[in-house]
Amino acid sequence: MSTDPLLLQAQQILRHNDRGGYTVPSAKLYPFQWNWDAAINAVGWQTFDEDRAWLEIEYLLKGLWANGLLPHVVFHQPSDTYFPGPSEWGCEHLTPPTTSISQPPVLSTMVRLMAQRSRDPNVQTRIAQLVPQLLRHHTWWHTDRDPEGTGLVVSYHPWESGNDNSPAWDAPLAAVPAATRPYTRKDLGLADSKHRPHQHEYDRYVYLMDFFRECKFDAMRIYRESPYCVVDVAMNAVLIRADRDLAALCESVGLRREAQTVARWANRGAAAIETLWDDKLGFHVSKDMRSQQFLPTPTHAGMMAWYAQLPTTREPERRAVMQRQLDARLASTPCALASCDPKAPGFDPLRYWRGPVWPHINWLLGSSLRELGLNEQAQRLSNDTLALIQRSGFFENYCPLTGEGLGGPDFSWTAAVYLSLKAESVTAGSVP
Ligand code: DGY
Repeated sequence: MSTDPLLLQAQQILRHNDRGGYTVPSAKLYPFQWNWDAAINAVGWQTFDEDRAWLEIEYLLKGLWANGLLPHVVFHQPSDTYFPGPSEWGCEHLTPPTTSISQPPVLSTMVRLMAQRSRDPNVQTRIAQLVPQLLRHHTWWHTDRDPEGTGLVVSYHPWESGNDNSPAWDAPLAAVPAATRPYTRKDLGLADSKHRPHQHEYDRYVYLMDFFRECKFDAMRIYRESPYCVVDVAMNAVLIRADRDLAALCESVGLRREAQTVARWANRGAAAIETLWDDKLGFHVSKDMRSQQFLPTPTHAGMMAWYAQLPTTREPERRAVMQRQLDARLASTPCALASCDPKAPGFDPLRYWRGPVWPHINWLLGSSLRELGLNEQAQRLSNDTLALIQRSGFFENYCPLTGEGLGGPDFSWTAAVYLSLKAESVTAGSVP
């Protein structure tokens, strides 16, 4: 029986952020249900309340559009502490209202993990109900976001990457016009402005949101005309992994033909992502599809090829190059893994995705590294994540230089990651 008081605190954070079926990431700063947060929060819930965990997924899927877009935010109930709300997105007529963009598709991977960890004798019934919706969502990625069938999907808004103000997006975002209409940010009244994106970035985030609304969300028009169109390496790595997990889920409920289609998407993605490999840098990079320039900023995204478990992560030569990069990145800060290499020009240790450590990234990446036999690196990510939380509390993210907690407090997915890491360490027989 564990005596770790933080386990109880983590459970209390999820319960406190529960709004009756869905979990807000942080009570004031993010008062709705976010897409990839929800999938990860469900894994945390499952460690102590399995029914509630599955409910989180069902609530998220209430936001699924008819065309398969799974929105990045579902506005189940109104709140006036957040900008931009449903009417800004132009989706206030939907039930429930949502945003018009998506987020990294970790959902199928989390559902598969939950199926593997489940103690529910009826779990296969749950999976059989979820799979058709997951299939619709993946089909949307592979059609609307890859209309030419290249194997790589595009994103139209930095918020879709989940890595909003990553320095990797500086160049493509600079080509986006600034919104000229007035609007009021609410985040600056709720978090330290030094931790939040700059105003010039928000002006462009708003421009893009307005542009999608003006396009009436027409997928082909946005594909042709969006001033921001990026192949995000991390997004594609997440999708490749999720395709494989969805193929396994399809198999498990007897959908063999669907499993084959999804496995083909995964293989096509794994082949196509190789066009993003930079031999000189030793990692994969994103690409600005408007300027046709690669985006070589050394963010954590280049490490996500490990997460996708690309075939090359098992080839000795490539693996050695990738491992040198990973080891260098882990050695570059006392608290790993920074979301941007401190030597990169855009690095800022406090500002959101320009440097801080994000617990869920460490958890996702760490679990794959362990699967690939990189136990030392996996352990570093897990130990550092637990130590940051133990030292500073359950924050949104952490300074990679000092370990200070940053952004929103009592953060749901930080609590979920803590619960999951602890559960995994018990299963593996060592409680850190
Ligand atoms: C925000 O509002 O800061 C979010 O990251 C957008 O999803």
